[in-house]
Amino acid sequence: IPVDRFDLTIFGATGDLARRKILPGLYRRLRAGQFDTSSRIIGASRTGYDTEGFRDDIKESLRAHLDPAVWDEDDVAQFLSCLHYVPLDIFTDDGWTVLSNLQRDDVVRAFYFSVGPSLFGEIARRLTQHKMTTADSRIVVEKPFGRDLETARALNAELRACFAEDQIYRIDHYLGKETVQNLMAVRFGNALFEPLWNAQHIDHIQITAAEDLGVDGRGEYYDKSGAMRDMVQNHIMQLLCLTAMEPPSHYDADSVRDEKLKVINALKPVLKGDVVRGQYRARGDKPSYLEHVDNPSSTTESFLAMKVEIANWRWSGVPIYLRTGKRLRNRLSEIAIVFKDPPHSIFDVQEDRKGNLLAIRLQPDEGMTLRVTIKEPGPGGMRLTEVPLDMTFAEALNQQEETPDAYERLIMDVIRGNQTLFMRGDEVEAAWDWVDPILKGWETRGDQPQQYDSFGSGPEDALMLLHRDGRKWRDIV
Ligand code: BG6
Repeated sequence: IPVDRFDLTIFGATGDLARRKILPGLYRRLRAGQFDTSSRIIGASRTGYDTEGFRDDIKESLRAHLDPAVWDEDDVAQFLSCLHYVPLDIFTDDGWTVLSNLQRDDVVRAFYFSVGPSLFGEIARRLTQHKMTTADSRIVVEKPFGRDLETARALNAELRACFAEDQIYRIDHYLGKETVQNLMAVRFGNALFEPLWNAQHIDHIQITAAEDLGVDGRGEYYDKSGAMRDMVQNHIMQLLCLTAMEPPSHYDADSVRDEKLKVINALKPVLKGDVVRGQYRARGDKPSYLEHVDNPSSTTESFLAMKVEIANWRWSGVPIYLRTGKRLRNRLSEIAIVFKDPPHSIFDVQEDRKGNLLAIRLQPDEGMTLRVTIKEPGPGGMRLTEVPLDMTFAEALNQQEETPDAYERLIMDVIRGNQTLFMRGDEVEAAWDWVDPILKGWETRGDQPQQYDSFGSGPEDALMLLHRDGRKWRDIV
């Protein structure tokens, strides 16, 4: 769907996120014919470029970050002609006046804060002070949205002092992933699954976001965050909400977000014994977590596993196991719904049987697997076995083009004015409210993370977390 003509101002336009995600994503949307090329992308940052210098620089960074298959000289030239640049020191007036004079009246105005959260408030105030926004303008802010409830509340207050909630787009890029939206399509577009989606039929749920990468290059940021703040409070929480929420009455921003909020508010406080934290060890020439963050006494976790429960009718008694970590065996993110056994088996009991399972894969190879039980072939009697009904979305839909990146989908939603896939302020605060006591507990007790082998499955205790309940994690393969 094409979008209205827009002026998108990116604060921090020469930073890593703009180069890696925002600008290449916008280029791909231009190629897809999704925006009117009289739209403008205005870069603003402290680098002393003029527009030509910015275009040259971004051309090089597009070359580095785009798949060569989508590189087309004419399209690149057209895209670069949409780029403009204003050198801006956020704290002084000069750049702001130039930026303000550039804004046009007959277009959608969007402002992307691709900068640290400590600058959000100042940018919001300056935008208002220089009368650069109208009631229809939008701002986009990045995570981390605070580091606890108090800082998140303060950020929300700063933004709300200048903008209405329906103008604030808080990005969680997991919501832009194809499979995450497919989770809603699968649940609410089929009559097949939803009747089984409850404590009566589901034994437990596993949500995994495993990465093989370490924290090299991002040590300074990561050591102040850890897996809880970096992944669980936001990305994993969103996956949990979409998996567990009640069917919204409509697929629109507030209906969906109201339901997600109810899930967060229904989360039980987590018991100390239901949480496992880890730090990866060195392996061969691959440094340990402590070496990567250059802090031998760090107690920050690069791995986190938790057992959580939702106190409501649908989920009472169904454990949800969450796990995320760096330097694990593979890059694998999935949501696995493990169903209960049939209430009565007419076949001989087989110890090694596994039940039905639905796994929704975010990466790699976005897709779904449904594990079903069938008879083992041959004349040897009625022996049962499990087989996967497996599909990747790309193959099933015979997709030729690369799936759009999460960021490019979300940016287009900003321009269209669709907030469904963005976090509302109360959602973010509720998530911090649940996470805060866990973080505080670690701090006051001085908990130490357990060391785990790089490129394995995480700490021993994380395996025990399920083992003691008679369950087993899915392999990270
Ligand atoms: C980011 C985190 O938000 O998400 C990173 O800061 C993490 O630490 C990344 O690696 C994971 O995103 P994706 O899309 O690669 O799963």
